[in-house]
Amino acid sequence: MDKLDAAAIALPGVKVRVVARCSSTNTVIFEQPIDGPVLLAAEEQSAGRGRRGRRWHSPRGAGITFSLAAPMRRPARELVALPLVAGVALARALRALGVQVALKWPNDLVVGEAKLGGILVETRAGVAVIGAGINCHRVPGLEDALGRRVAFLERTDRNLVIRSLAQSLMVSLREFEMRGFEAARNDWQAMDAHAGLRLRVRLADGKVLSGMNSGLAADGALRVLTRGGLREVRSGRVVSAGAA
Ligand code: BTN
Repeated sequence: MDKLDAAAIALPGVKVRVVARCSSTNTVIFEQPIDGPVLLAAEEQSAGRGRRGRRWHSPRGAGITFSLAAPMRRPARELVALPLVAGVALARALRALGVQVALKWPNDLVVGEAKLGGILVETRAGVAVIGAGINCHRVPGLEDALGRRVAFLERTDRNLVIRSLAQSLMVSLREFEMRGFEAARNDWQAMDAHAGLRLRVRLADGKVLSGMNSGLAADGALRVLTRGGLREVRSGRVVSAGAA
């Protein structure tokens, strides 16, 4: 099995650290002062965290699990778009590596309808942490355990993949700092797995909204054209999509 190696990930201007095991790279990276970009990758997480309080399964050596922390100078109200910016950055890098990945709002990485990876963005006091989890080596039984379809990268060069992903994240974070979400919005829409489709979206309060996917608002909200008019969803997830 390929082993993670900080020297092989090495990125100019980024402090890179690899650990065999930790609770969650997002949690641990916040434990140190962050005055410049830092990357922490782990072979295994004992308490990997997903979006909306879910768990992220990280068996040893099976996936790519890392967090990139960087100072972020942008008004707090704009940071809601950061998960989408991170999705664009990771999808750009994976496509450059030949992976036919698309984005599912807000920021799942999908191949067809199968989930390849997820992103957990957390911000605190002028620092943004982008946590990325990507399924790499096939884990038997994972689909059954999660109750959904899962895709795997199946590559044996995780160090190179992490370097490419982190490089792309650094570029996108700089773009975001200079120009806001507008810099990533078109790319997000061009990589939308469900462009032009009818969506069912589960809102944060559990209600389900149905309507046509109408792209993204300027702040990253998902616009859905329902029978009652245009709605903008800021918190929720796409549960299914189909032909109009
Ligand atoms: C999701 O799809 O729910 C987001 C999953 C994010 C998982 C990554 S793995 C590295 C980082 N550390 C964590 O605890 N979570 C993120």
